[in-house]
Amino acid sequence: VSGGPSEPRCGTSGPVCSAAEVTESPNEATTIGAEKWDDVGQKATLPLVSESQVFWYGDNLTVMREHVADNSVDLIYLDPPFNSQRIYNRFFGELDGTESDAQRRAFDDYWQWGPEAAEAFREVVHPRERRSIVPATLSQTLEMFRAIHPDSNLLAYLSMMAVRLIEMRRVLKNGGALYLHCDPTAGHYLKLLLDSLFGAKCFQNEVIWKRTTAHSGTGRFGPIHDTIFYYTKGEASTWNQQRLGYTQEYLDKYYKFDDGDGRLYWRDNLTASGVRRGDSGAPWRGVDPTAIGRHWAIPKAARRAVGNRSTLEALDELDKLGRIYWPPAGRVPQYKSYREDLQGKVVSDIWDDIDRINSVGLERTGYPTQKPVALLDRIIRTSSNEGDVVLDPFCGCGTAVVAAQRAGRNWIGVDITHVAVSVLRRRLDTEFPGLPYRVRGEPEDVASARRLAAERWDEFQAWIVDKVSGLPLSPTEEKKVAKKGKDGGIDGLLLFRDDPKAPRSHRMILSVKGGEQLNPGMIDALFGVVSRENATAGALLTAYPPTAGMRKTALAYGDYASESFDPGKRYPKIQIVSVEDLFDPKWRGLLFPGPNTSHRSEPPAMTKGPAVAKAEEDLATFVLKASEPKKPKAKQQKLGLPAPKARKG
Ligand SMILES: C[S@@+](CC[C@H](N)C(=O)[O-])C[C@H]1O[C@@H](n2cnc3c(N)ncnc32)[C@H](O)[C@@H]1O
Repeated sequence: VSGGPSEPRCGTSGPVCSAAEVTESPNEATTIGAEKWDDVGQKATLPLVSESQVFWYGDNLTVMREHVADNSVDLIYLDPPFNSQRIYNRFFGELDGTESDAQRRAFDDYWQWGPEAAEAFREVVHPRERRSIVPATLSQTLEMFRAIHPDSNLLAYLSMMAVRLIEMRRVLKNGGALYLHCDPTAGHYLKLLLDSLFGAKCFQNEVIWKRTTAHSGTGRFGPIHDTIFYYTKGEASTWNQQRLGYTQEYLDKYYKFDDGDGRLYWRDNLTASGVRRGDSGAPWRGVDPTAIGRHWAIPKAARRAVGNRSTLEALDELDKLGRIYWPPAGRVPQYKSYREDLQGKVVSDIWDDIDRINSVGLERTGYPTQKPVALLDRIIRTSSNEGDVVLDPFCGCGTAVVAAQRAGRNWIGVDITHVAVSVLRRRLDTEFPGLPYRVRGEPEDVASARRLAAERWDEFQAWIVDKVSGLPLSPTEEKKVAKKGKDGGIDGLLLFRDDPKAPRSHRMILSVKGGEQLNPGMIDALFGVVSRENATAGALLTAYPPTAGMRKTALAYGDYASESFDPGKRYPKIQIVSVEDLFDPKWRGLLFPGPNTSHRSEPPAMTKGPAVAKAEEDLATFVLKASEPKKPKAKQQKLGLPAPKARKG
């Protein structure tokens, strides 16, 4: 680690600054300082054993508290919701760049002051059980936030973050690093939380990631960057200097001279402007630098090769090594800088060389707010070594997990939504077939599946639709399609293709029922949706066993066969799957002809049914109406003013 104002200060693998060199946080003297804090933190004994190569489906607060041991993680990257007060949907079927109609609510970035936020606030400001790991500075900072933003949505967000950051610091090893990814919405408050928790002297960098080039901002500058706060904990932390590679264009432009042995080089200056006395101003091999107003200046890389000799001796040595280029007719010699010796430019705290995931990028999963693997790769390689444990408690579609796996690190990922689980599972299975990883926290038996249905209905739908290998549908999309209030009977789709030459896949409509009260009318309703949407088949997915009457009704709707795939075979038009079936090892999955194409790049064909067509028609009329120029109002006509302009978009 080299010196400099922005170099790591608190315990990196380079020289550790003495306390005198760092600015003390004003509160630190009165509260738990870094060392005392570590002692206290270690005393908090929790009977936990962390396991890695594991992805947890659940709230990271519970997962960290119940399953991640103290001082067990080398690096934490977190990319929490930014408090944008938005709902993010995951778009399916966009891998080939085609927009899909099917989307699922992935996660909410919407915070409200309420009992849960108040409890998180209380746990930080008046800690009871976890007193030993909550520094007083953090409590004071959160209280200060309440004074500025009493009982607000922002305070709810910051309380939720504070209570989780406490656990992150607990599980981080001494010498570990934490990178918090955020944007300017709440970044300044988050930094204060981190300073209060880790101590200001453990702050290392504010990395600016230029994530996009253009963003129009009406009445303000276009926001084009995210911020990543980098903190370390305790003693010497891992620091592997990262360097930037060179573009081919640059290499071809400058490193183009051939040495005759295939090695390409650039001719670097051996002199600098200004006359000097002594060795560096003396003539060498008939060339006098003083005569042209210059002096000998050995480039840094060349100096490393020849050591600490006098200038003229160093020039002799370089010539002996064949590193001097002699131009014709007594002109000034130059230094041969070989392409193969290039080390690359040291990475600084502005990262403008990593593009965000674009709409047709191969890496794209359709998960909102997905970050590029290159970004995570840089962080992971800088602050961890092979075999280290990387934790991402807000891991979404698992970019950190993928980068960690590629770099040979152990990892723990956590996300609260099942959409994230299904995307990550597919991502890992595609990129690392056969990788022995575990997913924990999903329903593992009938009872836990029913509990999920009772406690988190949306999540149960996502889980059960994924379990039968279908695509979940967002409530908004479902409402738009069915127009029958909240439960329109379409909770997901399963696509299959019986003919590889056919332009589109067939659709099986999936409808989920979480309650105990089931009746044959539900089968009739499903058949109605299947017919209305011109789908091929339908399946009812239930948390409780279906009645005999339901099975009879389903059978009565008959079956169908495919002309191109296994022509003799017949498939039930309406099927029923209960959670008992899902946990029965004999259950073989839903029945349909041909391969399941739900998770391929083709967009699900949701636009055929009359309800969808009507919804689209309404939307088109609405857009047309909105863009029509308004008729000039009487007053405007009187004054001879032009009609208001049509609105764009
Ligand atoms: C900004 S996204 C992360 C994106 C991720 N870095 C990627 O590349 O895909 C934030 C994620 O945090 C998850 N999340 C929100 N609250 C959570 C909680 N309490 N526990 C676990 N995950 C949570 C959301 O479901 C969402 O997937």
